[in-house]
Amino acid sequence: MNKIILLGYMGSGKSVIAELLAQKIGLPFKDLDEIIERHENLSIKDIFKQQGEIYFRKLENSLFKALMASDESFVLSLGGGTPCYAGNHELLAGQGISSFYLKASLAELYSRLNKDKAGRPLIAEMEQEEMKEFIAKHLFERSFFYSKALHTITVDNKSPEAIVLEIESLI
Ligand code: S3P
Repeated sequence: MNKIILLGYMGSGKSVIAELLAQKIGLPFKDLDEIIERHENLSIKDIFKQQGEIYFRKLENSLFKALMASDESFVLSLGGGTPCYAGNHELLAGQGISSFYLKASLAELYSRLNKDKAGRPLIAEMEQEEMKEFIAKHLFERSFFYSKALHTITVDNKSPEAIVLEIESLI
């Protein structure tokens, strides 16, 4: 069994890198946000709106636990908050599990998320200054959990292909 888990803040490139890596090494690609959306037949934004964040976090935890308990091999990209709730960070290490924190700088995250926040309920309604402050504080709080990944890969100024190569060299 070989489970490769990518984690990191919103906008760090988890899904893109995971899909590319999965294709390259011939493992199935899974995206936890997509799995949650399929399970509920609703977008993440609508789950937050209709059911609230606690409901989302409980579902995220149960679907993540089920994936990690299976015998399947895969490359899985997590949601930005997954490692930070319900003890999920404890599932990032163990036999056959490699986890990677895709670490982007604050400046890089501001610039990426400013262009692409509509589907992200935590920041969708924020003005630029408010979003900057939110991300800085949020990232500071979450760093403890992200650092539980087995490996940290910095992603600023690197192409997706270069990041995939770096991950490949560590698995
Ligand atoms: C979240 C990140 C999102 C999604 C949800 C909550 C977070 O995933 O799971 O909106 O708490 O950071 P992405 O990191 O894929 O945007």
